[in-house]
Amino acid sequence: MKSVEGNKAGLKPFELMLDQKKISQRVIQLGERISADYTGESLVLVGVLKGCIVFMADLMRYIKVPVEIEFISAASYRHGIRREDDVVIGGGVSIPLKGRNVLVVEGIVDTGRTASVIVEKIRKMEPASVEVVTLLDKPASHRVDIDIKYKGFTIGNEFVIGFGLDNAQLYRNLPFIGRMIEG
Ligand code: IMP
Ligand code: MG
Repeated sequence: MKSVEGNKAGLKPFELMLDQKKISQRVIQLGERISADYTGESLVLVGVLKGCIVFMADLMRYIKVPVEIEFISAASYRHGIRREDDVVIGGGVSIPLKGRNVLVVEGIVDTGRTASVIVEKIRKMEPASVEVVTLLDKPASHRVDIDIKYKGFTIGNEFVIGFGLDNAQLYRNLPFIGRMIEG
């Protein structure tokens, strides 16, 4: 696969993993499946910031049922000072979710802790249903039991960037998914 050099602004090197065409074809399929599953209903998309933004902006344009959007922020501190299982959720949800169909939108599911904490939080709000859609899933890294109804791509235990996903807050603007090159 083509290797992409990091630039002079200090980006570390990465290589292409999923190109724009592949991602967009898959996003369209997900949108069609979601539209079919919720026919005759409406949906509240709850995006998990910041990684969801590019995926969610694309996906929502292929969902044909009425949609409202909401965001929640999540930070995990795996490599920081906090305990490994800490997931800090910020930002209140202003749309009442009681009786609504809720779809949590994630850029990537790794251990599954973030998605699982958010789903539990939403369940307490008594929605009619709550499901998860993620662009990328790393099933080998899951540490909690999490049911992800819609997934774009399943990947291995590797660190990826772009299409909203970051490494140290950079690379989110890349229009494709890349894999960091070790070393
Ligand atoms: P969790 O482990 O499933 O709770 O995922 C926590 C968060 O870690 C995700 O929402 C992402 O923000 C981040 N993350 C996990 N794996 C990757 C990756 O490969 N690239 C970029 N961010 C990642
Ligand atoms: Mg991150």
